[in-house]
Amino acid sequence: MAEHLDIIEGSKEERYEALYPQIKSVVEDETDSIANMANVASMLHETFGFWWTGFYRVIGEQLVLGPFQGPLACTRIKKGRGVCGTTWQKEETIVVPDVEQFPGHIACSSASRSEIVVPIKHDGVVVAVLDIDSASLNTFDDTDKLWLEKIAVLL
Ligand code: SME
Repeated sequence: MAEHLDIIEGSKEERYEALYPQIKSVVEDETDSIANMANVASMLHETFGFWWTGFYRVIGEQLVLGPFQGPLACTRIKKGRGVCGTTWQKEETIVVPDVEQFPGHIACSSASRSEIVVPIKHDGVVVAVLDIDSASLNTFDDTDKLWLEKIAVLL
């Protein structure tokens, strides 16, 4: 496993292209999902300078906060609530260009302006979500969706 993250610069596409093999190499030798989520949150956060990057795990009827980078966050989210709970319910990625336009958005931080949430599935069942918040509007698009869904498959 790589012990450091190579410096990654360039366009969004170039960053994901360079980051993906590094993430793959970090997670493929480790079986502990918490350790892998922790490293993936760190690598994405460092590479893109997001506001908040982390995971919520499905535990019973709720999402429970997992490894993350960024400010303090809410610890539990019910199915169907907020962007995270809606992603779990719909079992598909949600891109939110402006969080104020998403009914029921849960504001863990008032600085968050846009968001993407990607489901992580094992055998077709959602076991966690990857949640990324940006302090700018319109940060996430189909490029993020494509690459983050590829990363989700590794977890
Ligand atoms: N905004 C999320 C809650 C989690 S925080 O952004 C870290 C939501 O609406 O589900």
